[in-house]
Amino acid sequence: MGDRAEHAKFLHGLIQKHHPEATTLLELACGTGAVLKHLQPHYEVAGADLSDKMLELATQKVPQARLFQADMTSVSLGESFDVVLCVFDSINHLLKFEQWEATFDRAREHLNDGGFFIFDVNTERKLSSFVAERAWSQWFGDNLLVIDVSDGGDGIALWTIRIFEHFQDSEYRLTSADIPEVAFPIDRIRTSLDERFARVWAYDTERSRPTSRSDRVHFVCRR
Ligand SMILES: C[S@@+](CC[C@H](N)C(=O)[O-])C[C@H]1O[C@@H](n2cnc3c(N)ncnc32)[C@H](O)[C@@H]1O
Repeated sequence: MGDRAEHAKFLHGLIQKHHPEATTLLELACGTGAVLKHLQPHYEVAGADLSDKMLELATQKVPQARLFQADMTSVSLGESFDVVLCVFDSINHLLKFEQWEATFDRAREHLNDGGFFIFDVNTERKLSSFVAERAWSQWFGDNLLVIDVSDGGDGIALWTIRIFEHFQDSEYRLTSADIPEVAFPIDRIRTSLDERFARVWAYDTERSRPTSRSDRVHFVCRR
């Protein structure tokens, strides 16, 4: 999905603004550690992800990080951090709102008093606009990435990701994955966060504050 330096810089800016004294950070659904890699010079970092394969790559990419195989809806590490992150629409991978709320509770549980939970969401508007668009493709080196987002029913936006990896001459090896995503109304998310956290802020990088036209919203929640 490309270099995550810009996103990591934005997240670092949010942490600096809200919690400049923060020194420890846990990322839920850290994937290959693409964001942790850029935050590691500033914080003592840890990551958790459901996928062993993702964690294997993260070990190589961010050797400084402590990594855990865990589901973000039930993770329990027995320790707390100044910041808990869950970004790049990872929470949209959870298909039921109860699972989102379980993740909010897990994040809160892993925060020191006064610590911050920061996560982002793809909005309903963004997922429907992806469904309406045609598939898109991009070469990276000799390999081709094709992404199509279709209507999976029940409010699900189904991402079909195909990678044609160059094998030899004109032969390619195909790897394909289907990833369902779901979005919920911003007001519903906000209400649920207000019940759990002392204070909540919402940001849209493209405008001064989130509106019904927002595509991605970052929530910053203080324990
Ligand atoms: C879009 S990637 C984001 C990776 C990383 N946060 C980043 O910004 O580059 C989504 C990640 O969520 C993980 N994931 C999906 N469901 C999960 C769950 N229930 N608990 C923990 N991780 C999960 C996937 O394995 C994948 O690594």
